[in-house]
Amino acid sequence: MKTAMMALLLIASTATAHVAPLENFETKPILADLKDLRALNIPVLAKDEDVEVGYAIVTPLMQQRIQERAHSVGKCGGFEDLSQDVMLQSRGFDHLLTEMAKTKEKNDLYERAPFKILSLEKSAQIEAALTEVSESNLRSYVQWLSAFPNRNNRDSQPNKHVVEMKQRLEAMLGNAQIPYEISEITHSSTKQNSLRVRLIGSQRPNEIVVLGGHLDSINQSWGGGSQAPGADDNASGSANLIEALRILMDKPQPQRTVEFFWYAGEESGLLGSAEIAKQYKAEKKDVVAVLQLDMTLFPGSGELVIGSMTDFTSSWLRDYLKAMNETYLHARIVDDKCGYGCSDHASWNRQGYAALMPFEATFSKSNKNIHTSRDVISPESNFKHSAVYTKIALVLALDLANSQARQPY
Ligand code: BES
Ligand code: ZN
Repeated sequence: MKTAMMALLLIASTATAHVAPLENFETKPILADLKDLRALNIPVLAKDEDVEVGYAIVTPLMQQRIQERAHSVGKCGGFEDLSQDVMLQSRGFDHLLTEMAKTKEKNDLYERAPFKILSLEKSAQIEAALTEVSESNLRSYVQWLSAFPNRNNRDSQPNKHVVEMKQRLEAMLGNAQIPYEISEITHSSTKQNSLRVRLIGSQRPNEIVVLGGHLDSINQSWGGGSQAPGADDNASGSANLIEALRILMDKPQPQRTVEFFWYAGEESGLLGSAEIAKQYKAEKKDVVAVLQLDMTLFPGSGELVIGSMTDFTSSWLRDYLKAMNETYLHARIVDDKCGYGCSDHASWNRQGYAALMPFEATFSKSNKNIHTSRDVISPESNFKHSAVYTKIALVLALDLANSQARQPY
């Protein structure tokens, strides 16, 4: 009997050697919209009902179903691939959920707090600075960036545009009034570098306001080649940041440090920002606020209608955006969600930092040409609309970076 069992076990073990090992199925840990996971009957291993995000381990077929569903409702990727997430690999998804729960708790605390931001005090200097935003500058920056064949992190020359961007910024900053530092940041997850410009704070230099967006682009269309102009995604947000820096550099030195980031490898899984945010957390850097500008050129929900993403962002900063809108922007703000960590704000939010993601439209009305060779400047591109996002960056640098305000938790 015993030998029979042994033989059976032996057969079983040799037999499994001929069956494809589990990893060949390429199951992936992902975060996706809870509604999508439920509609597709995919087992949800953990969830955050508040932001309606679910965690699941999915097979390629399930991935395909989610993607199809996402595309049918006008979404882009549809889920966030966590298989490269070092934190998840080392500490498991319990840790990921604890982090998600912490964010929820902070937002809950803020929402229950008796003192909330109601309005910003209008400043003539800030109003004047906002009038300096130039639509034609924005157009020329987007034209320049989208003329590179691609800005992909897996390209044979992944840093061609990064080097050129650094040179341009250095030339521009030549006559800056504020002490600054400019550097390329190398990464271990990609050969592409991120770029950072720091405007050093005069009173509280250790308190940091981050203004960022991804500089890379990608072509994900079937047989679509490698042409990835990425005009909207994300030459637009990158251009908004250049324009904000141009205006800020000859204004009085801010009390807090203002850091500009042009991230690497966002399109391959938030690579650059994930490393940077992790590093900042490890160094216990006091980042007060993180602005993410990713896609600002296509006014799919109407001119001056801004989608404010409520997942992976801070309630406090979303209120701050509404308050600055009343005082300075006079646009329309509509709350919406990506349903997964769709851009670099999620990297910072995962490390516990307060993030804000004002987006070109609501998710479903956003530009459908992204990730193809058709993401170019077109008659639908709207630089007046895009200019508002530079103004958001400016108010954060001129108001928040000159105050003591922070998320009250
Ligand atoms: N700009 C997009 C995110 C986006 C697309 C937001 C459409 C809202 C509407 C970003 O560059 C991107 O493509 N992100 C990836 C996810 C990332 C984790 C690789 C995506 O959405 O598939
Ligand atoms: Zn993209």
